Amino acid sequence: NDTAIIVVAAGSGTRLGRGVPKAFAELAGATILEHALRGLVALDASVVVVVPAGLEADASAIAERAGVVASVVAGGAERADSVAAGLAAAGDARWVLVHDAARALTPADQFERVLAALHEGAGAVVPVLPVVDTIRQADDAGLGAIVDRSALRAMQTPQGFDAALLRRAYEAAGDARGRSTDDAQLVQALGEPVLPVAGDELAFKVTTAADAERATSLLEEEAA
Ligand code: C5P
Repeated sequence: NDTAIIVVAAGSGTRLGRGVPKAFAELAGATILEHALRGLVALDASVVVVVPAGLEADASAIAERAGVVASVVAGGAERADSVAAGLAAAGDARWVLVHDAARALTPADQFERVLAALHEGAGAVVPVLPVVDTIRQADDAGLGAIVDRSALRAMQTPQGFDAALLRRAYEAAGDARGRSTDDAQLVQALGEPVLPVAGDELAFKVTTAADAERATSLLEEEAA
């Protein structure tokens, strides 16, 4: 396959408070991982799912239910460690997409926009949204200045890469990769450009209990 999609699902999900790793928490009758994988069914890509060690067999069963052929590998302590484990299992694909399982409702056309930009020659592509909240600097002393939000963008996934470029970025970052929550940042650190494409509100990351409620009602609406 020309394209590999690494779905990172090895987070602990502490902020969700369900007592299971986040991707294995259920929303509207299926796990977050299953919802995320269902969104990949129509894509012509090989899929690598990265999960907490010990949950590989469960993840394989979930992938099968979602209708996706996937290889499953164990992740690491930080998100970047999990991405690195996925990259090691991604074979020799020309393009790699890295996607958060927690963005379980990401519309298929967001994947298409990222892929289209890669096919047009971009080395790194990130879906972004404008920031709607008013944002301030803050420190222990309290609130500081308001940041001009017109100059801010929120990062989403899937982030798409020329596979060789992403591998180079991970190699160059070495142990420092652990501090990165954003793969495109590592590419940027090489001095390479990162192309923004339009994100989508539906690609929000399920992080808190309130996010889980929102995702559940959207899924129930979809099923009705
Ligand atoms: O923790 P956060 O919500 O930022 O994680 C984003 C995505 O990265 C989630 O899908 C989560 O499962 C994944 N992750 C991972 N390995 C980690 C931490 C997070 O695969 N060690």
